[in-house]
Parts: sequence; structure tokens; C-alpha cells
Amino acid sequence: MREEAGVLEAAAVLHDIGYAPPLVDTGFHPLDGARHLLEVRSAPERVVRLVANHSFALLEAEERGLRMELAEEFPLLDDPLLVDALVYCDMTTTPDGGRTTSEERVGEILGRYGEDSVVGRFIRRAAPAIHSSVERVRAAAVEADVVL
Ligand SMILES: [Fe+2]
Repeated sequence: MREEAGVLEAAAVLHDIGYAPPLVDTGFHPLDGARHLLEVRSAPERVVRLVANHSFALLEAEERGLRMELAEEFPLLDDPLLVDALVYCDMTTTPDGGRTTSEERVGEILGRYGEDSVVGRFIRRAAPAIHSSVERVRAAAVEADVVL
């Protein structure tokens, strides 16, 4: 459990590293970030795969024509609760670090990028899965008597 927490913490801190201008290659930040973490930083595989797939990135990869690259280089981790936990961290936090709901976060992303943008199309497709992930993490926290 302690190792899981370390993997989650590292992925939560690093998940958007692919936005850093020197790392931009494809322009798809989960893939650019994961490649950097693997090839330059030799980050642990589970952290890298979480970063690559954070918050249903595979759906955005489809919008960008990068599904095969992402899926083949960085398969989704076979640890559903850990994957959900990173979705929870990403999608219940505002861009400046405040707390929010996943509904508000999706709305904020749509407002920022526009409904018909690549990101807008992706987030509209991903929203139901995002909200379900958040609910599963909340349920698991209740079950484990953990306050989120
Ligand atoms: Fe991201």
C-alpha cells in the first residue's frame, strides 16, 4: 500500500510534465511527458504508464490520431483503483491547485478549450468515465474510512 501511494504521488506530481515547452514533440502532453520520463529520467514504469494514460488520455489520443503510439508504448496499467485515483487527483483539482468537483472541472476545461476543439471533443467523450472514476475513489475512501 505504501508503494502504491508513492507511485500515485509521483504520477500526480508529474502527470502534466509533457506541457513543458522543451518536452513538446507530438503536442500531446501525456505521450510527450511519458516519453521524457522513460527515456530521459528513467522513471519507474508504473509511474510512466500512469502519466501516459492519465484521465482517459487514450480517448484524446484517438482524437489526435495517436492511439496506436500511446497504446503500444504505454499500455494502461492493470490496477483500476490506482488509475481511478490519478483521475480523482487530476479532475477534482483546479488548474491553480484548488479543490473542485469533476463536473466543474469538465466545465472549466470545456470553457477554456471550446466544445469543438480536440480537447473539447475528448473531454465530452471522457466525462462519464471521469465522473465514474471519481465516484469509485470516493466509495473506496468511505470503505477504507479515509477522508478525502
Ligand atoms: Fe493532463
